[in-house]
Amino acid sequence: MFQASLKLHSAFTVGPVSRELFGGFVEHLGRHIYGGIYEPGHPTAGADGFRRDVVDLVRELGISHVRYPGGNFVSGHDWEDGVGPIEDRPRRLDPAWHSIETNEVGLHEFSDWLDLVGSELMLAANFGTRGTREALHLLEYANIPSGTTRSDARRENGREEPFDVRMWCLGNEMDGDWQIGSKTADEYARLAAVTARAMRAIDQDLKLAACGSSWRGMPTFGVWERTVLEHAFDQIDYISCHAYYHEEDGDVASFLASGVDMDDFIESVVHTIEHVRAVKRSDRRIDISFDEWNIWYQAGETLAVDSWPVAPRLLEDQYSVTDAVVLGGLLISLLKHADRVKAANLAQLVNVIAPIMTEPGGPAWRQTTFFPFATTSRLATGTALRGVLDAPEVATAKFGDVPAVDAVATLDGDRAAVFVLNRSVDDTARFTIDIAALGIDGPVRAQGIWDEDRHAKNTLDAPERVTLRENTKVGRENGTITVELPPVSWTCVTIG
Ligand code: AHR
Repeated sequence: MFQASLKLHSAFTVGPVSRELFGGFVEHLGRHIYGGIYEPGHPTAGADGFRRDVVDLVRELGISHVRYPGGNFVSGHDWEDGVGPIEDRPRRLDPAWHSIETNEVGLHEFSDWLDLVGSELMLAANFGTRGTREALHLLEYANIPSGTTRSDARRENGREEPFDVRMWCLGNEMDGDWQIGSKTADEYARLAAVTARAMRAIDQDLKLAACGSSWRGMPTFGVWERTVLEHAFDQIDYISCHAYYHEEDGDVASFLASGVDMDDFIESVVHTIEHVRAVKRSDRRIDISFDEWNIWYQAGETLAVDSWPVAPRLLEDQYSVTDAVVLGGLLISLLKHADRVKAANLAQLVNVIAPIMTEPGGPAWRQTTFFPFATTSRLATGTALRGVLDAPEVATAKFGDVPAVDAVATLDGDRAAVFVLNRSVDDTARFTIDIAALGIDGPVRAQGIWDEDRHAKNTLDAPERVTLRENTKVGRENGTITVELPPVSWTCVTIG
């Protein structure tokens, strides 16, 4: 057993926790839409074809908003294909995922689904095969009440009121050579700037996210962000970050330290934003939309290039307890940067690298990663506090020596929540939380994810093998809470 401690004080405030930190992502990819959220004929499906068992799980997960329709898919997609009478919609090749897109679900249907799950829409525009003109057309269709050809077409298509989409992504991963219509930094930066300016001429009250690098390992990382910011600084609200992690070659120590990488990634992008702001002598504030993040093994993903299937099984990772613990750690990283990360999207939501899985005609169930996300989304409210953390270090191959424990807290009136990760593979941590300076009282409870078998998963055959556990080894004496954190564990301690 080792000792670690966190001292909390309301003066250690990071910033308000944006509700939009808890976004999801639904791409037309694999069995995400067709056979995931939409399965006409399924015993739980409504007349609209949407599975109500999935709706219930998405509501339980607590998703603020959903990025749609991609992802790589969006860079070859014509939004007009997904509106109008369903029987008239075209079947199209989706070159991004080598699939057939039937367009049975498009903007209207997806918006109806969002109403069912109680989330907002974050709409991505195609900057690959298309650009300014089509983004403006989509904006007119979505947000103008009436009196123009496209807004009236929306009304004729059954939607009287505008969709009123506030959050927009200006393309997706435009630096990646896998991206349809990928661009150089200068090409994309200029396109993003002129399109954003024109979009604001139609609707001034938009939140616009420009593409950052696809991931920080890209050779152009840093220069790409700087170039985009130099061109588009006065037009955008966010620059995006994307990051996926997985355990490589059994190196669990590095995997458990993924949050260290995410911390450094976020801070590098913030420094780049502030550098450009300084050069421009601007008082404008640009924040980060971490609009794709998750665990993704990216192993053996072979697209069937000799056929064009509809809704094939793609990217259907099954997540272990360790994956869930790391995901909880990534949420800690996002909360530690709540002052600059104002939106984020767990990528993705159903079947495709997802916290929720389904079987055709069968059940839907929670993956291990469901639990830290749902718990954090529900309990991380108010302001984020960093606190003073004291913990021994553990060695990692990728990141050197890192603290064995990572933690962050949130304070909301007379309630606090502490989110904590034990990165040690072998040792329990005796973790003390000094809350004396917070002046709060009330019951203390600890819940989390850990298991004697860190590889345990939830599957079709054993859908409830792993669930959120009650940590009974929690106590309180005056202003100090003590909780035992098992090795490879993620825990949420609530006070009040
Ligand atoms: O989330 C899966 C894919 O990962 C997305 O389509 C793409 O944007 C990213 O590379």
